[in-house]
Amino acid sequence: MKMTDNRICKLLGTKYPIIQGAMAWVADAQLAAAVSNGGGLGIIAGGAMPRELLEKEIIKAFELTDKPFGLNIMLMSPNVPDALDLAVQYKVPVVTTGAGVPGKVLERLKPLGTVVIPVVASVAQARRVEKQGADAVVAEGMEAGGHIGELTTMAIVPQAASALSIPVIAAGGIADGRGVAAAFALGAEGVQLGTRFICCSECAVHENFKQAVLDARDRSTVVTGRSTGHPVRCLRNKLTAEFEKLEAAGASPEEIENLGVGRLRDGVVDGDKDWGSIMAGQSSAMVNDVRPAKDIIESLFVEAAEISGKLGALL
Ligand SMILES: Cc1cc2nc3c(=O)[nH]c(=O)nc-3n(C[C@H](O)[C@H](O)[C@H](O)COP(=O)(O)O)c2cc1C
Repeated sequence: MKMTDNRICKLLGTKYPIIQGAMAWVADAQLAAAVSNGGGLGIIAGGAMPRELLEKEIIKAFELTDKPFGLNIMLMSPNVPDALDLAVQYKVPVVTTGAGVPGKVLERLKPLGTVVIPVVASVAQARRVEKQGADAVVAEGMEAGGHIGELTTMAIVPQAASALSIPVIAAGGIADGRGVAAAFALGAEGVQLGTRFICCSECAVHENFKQAVLDARDRSTVVTGRSTGHPVRCLRNKLTAEFEKLEAAGASPEEIENLGVGRLRDGVVDGDKDWGSIMAGQSSAMVNDVRPAKDIIESLFVEAAEISGKLGALL
């Protein structure tokens, strides 16, 4: 199959069916534009960014690339109305949504022709957003960095692909061509990677954050906040040990949530490896170098094509 036959490439207007996952504090215009210029779809993470800052990033992305890029709206954040307004005002071609119910985003943006792709963690959620008019879904497994659900990528992707008519983009645990090939074997038509893009040359995250991902091994990540209903996967450090202590002691959800306030910024901007939140996925152990986004994207698909060619002989 030529990439041009791929429904995700057609939908996004990209050369490759790959999205750089939104990463609050990490995914700015510079990273998004590098990924879009490299043939994928770069995403600016709206996170909890104040309106003026987000507007600057959107304008900057339009300056840095003439390719399509996206904006991620974090549905838990108080800035949703501002992010939505900016998506409308600047006609951002693609909007992804995270952590919540995207009904309002779909209602507002679909009539304008914006491509809207919610991130989902269950088949029920995927079915719901398809009915509401989503163009595709990102089905994210709990191997991923950041806020996660309960299902693994291996389990959610084929189930979502069977349940939906719209295309499924796999996320969680994918960092090389093997993961891309596996995702497609499971029924995905595209992939979304977060952790791998932390270690790309154009990512402005603090060097300590990058180094922590490079140093990570198979069991370096831990999930905090399960008891609050908002589980987050990040690299083990003093902060996660404190979370574990509080959770084991039966601390209130407020107390646990409070411990996390501002910590991602501490990790990303200040490089606080001990007390910052170093959100990253289980694939961190497979990320061993820092390369330009274009180079990463191209080698993912060269490797995936090689693997898919060899699979016939093995099966
Ligand atoms: C540091 C970090 C921050 C993230 N922030 C967001 C976010 O703001 N919104 C969102 O929808 N997903 C967020 N994610 C999830 C990613 O967009 C992506 O789906 C995930 O990283 C894919 O799994 P992987 O890390 O195994 O590649 C974040 C992930 C990381 C690692």
